[in-house]
Amino acid sequence: MFDPTAFRDALGSFVTGVTIVTTRDESGQPFGLTANSFNSVSLDPPMVLWSLSLTSGTLPIFRDADHWAVHVLAADQQALSDHFARPGSAKFEGLDLQDGPEGAPLLDGYAARFGCRARFEYEGGDHAIFLGQVVDFDRRDAEPLIYHGGRYGRVMRAASGKNLEREGLAERIGDGLALTASGADLLSALEEVAKR
Ligand SMILES: Cc1cc2nc3c(=O)[nH]c(=O)nc-3n(C[C@H](O)[C@H](O)[C@H](O)COP(=O)(O)O)c2cc1C
Repeated sequence: MFDPTAFRDALGSFVTGVTIVTTRDESGQPFGLTANSFNSVSLDPPMVLWSLSLTSGTLPIFRDADHWAVHVLAADQQALSDHFARPGSAKFEGLDLQDGPEGAPLLDGYAARFGCRARFEYEGGDHAIFLGQVVDFDRRDAEPLIYHGGRYGRVMRAASGKNLEREGLAERIGDGLALTASGADLLSALEEVAKR
């Protein structure tokens, strides 16, 4: 058996986004939780998956659900992620709640949303793996919230000509790029640090 902490830490090296998965029970009551186990599976037919702890209070609800929706959170939705990561059924109180086209609760402000028809459930050790067929999706031009090593993060794009231009560090002159004054300042500051 592995050392559980070391195993968890190693898994945490894999960077993910953060989602909230929502559904309704038979009586129409909304349920949902924060999950970073989301992943794409198939393009044709369009399918996605996520996994839910067998200890989760919402397990029986998702087992019975016909539809559920995955909200890929935007960078400014960290508080909502924390809110939906707490156990309990009062998570939707005070939220102005509407449903998406598939019939699952819609949480606004997302970077992307996938409305799914529940298709399969698989055994995954101490988690249940849910696979859904995407029947509706929506995407916004928002930076995503990310998760790494048990902490939230933001996307930092790798340096490229385009990003340098966007940050005002370089400008296009003819076919090439040249440093702007602030680009040159940054470069000399970095060179100073490198010398120390
Ligand atoms: C960033 C993040 C990702 C999480 N991912 C999952 C996950 O993929 N599956 C899971 O079962 N719990 C996950 N959790 C924990 C659940 O959100 C938490 O246990 C929640 O209380 C479950 O809701 P419930 O108790 O109402 O079922 C995650 C928590 C955080 C903060």
